[in-house]
Amino acid sequence: MKKDLLTLGDLNAGDLQEIFELALKLKRERGQVDFKPLRGKSVGLIFAKSSTRTRVSFEVGVAELGGTPLYLDQGRMQVGRGETVADTARVLSRYLHGVVIRTYSQADVEELGRFADIPVINALTDEFHPCQILADLLTILEYSGKIEGTKLVFYGDGRSNIANSLIKAAHLVDFELVIAAPAEFSPDPALVGNAANIRWEEDPIRAAKDADYIYTDVWVSMGFEEERARRLKVFAPYQVNRAVMQAAGKQAKLLHCLPAHRGEEVSAEVMDSPASIVFDEAENRLHVQKAVMTLLIR
Ligand code: CP
Ligand code: NVA
Repeated sequence: MKKDLLTLGDLNAGDLQEIFELALKLKRERGQVDFKPLRGKSVGLIFAKSSTRTRVSFEVGVAELGGTPLYLDQGRMQVGRGETVADTARVLSRYLHGVVIRTYSQADVEELGRFADIPVINALTDEFHPCQILADLLTILEYSGKIEGTKLVFYGDGRSNIANSLIKAAHLVDFELVIAAPAEFSPDPALVGNAANIRWEEDPIRAAKDADYIYTDVWVSMGFEEERARRLKVFAPYQVNRAVMQAAGKQAKLLHCLPAHRGEEVSAEVMDSPASIVFDEAENRLHVQKAVMTLLIR
């Protein structure tokens, strides 16, 4: 594996397999086996944006692996007062054994990785959310027994951190990825490249056909609040509701990275239906991130 996890592009198919095998083992053995690879190690968790799942799963994950998590509010760090990202990286490398960061700019996270001697894990930027998609793929592996050959349809902002990371995932594993989005928010062609297993579909009902997984995310990502009114209007036809699930078929399961806004990107009825596996998906954040930290932080 490379030193950092900045996007899923840092991983190859072998790395993915290693992460999933370890994550499933850690999930099975949780609370039973004494596995403390982070004993004596400290991991900084820098957050510039809100979080429930990411913060808690990383803090608990570090603790369960025997390490010490340090929550760092980016707004209270000197980097917010003009200290450079590079200097911050150099200093943190003298204290910590790993850094997890959630912030706005992907470029900042890449710079942190470049100047830090310790592993840097991206816990969400405006552009990518690799840890989330690792948990999603693990969930698919558990439910379908494989990822290859499954069909996943993502509804909403085709240029969001979630959509972008799903596209990266579809470059690594051969599943069918359909992005159901309005033209204005269709996926970035530069990111899609010429991958035959990724396509954009404007019609939300046609997109759903035979999907194994229907995936959605908020219409207004963190940092895009001023676009709320326009986004609510343009994404309205892409709500995941009964019509979409029926168009997909009985086999279809609902994925959502959460937090969900019932009545916006997903109807309350679908969110709370038996097809919804969103809490299994959320749980897998913990297991997959424990695996990633075990493999990266040595
Ligand atoms: N899915 C996710 O990253 O959730 P949080 O924003 O609560 O961390
Ligand atoms: N796209 C969402 C994901 C939240 C986990 C956001 O960036 O706010």
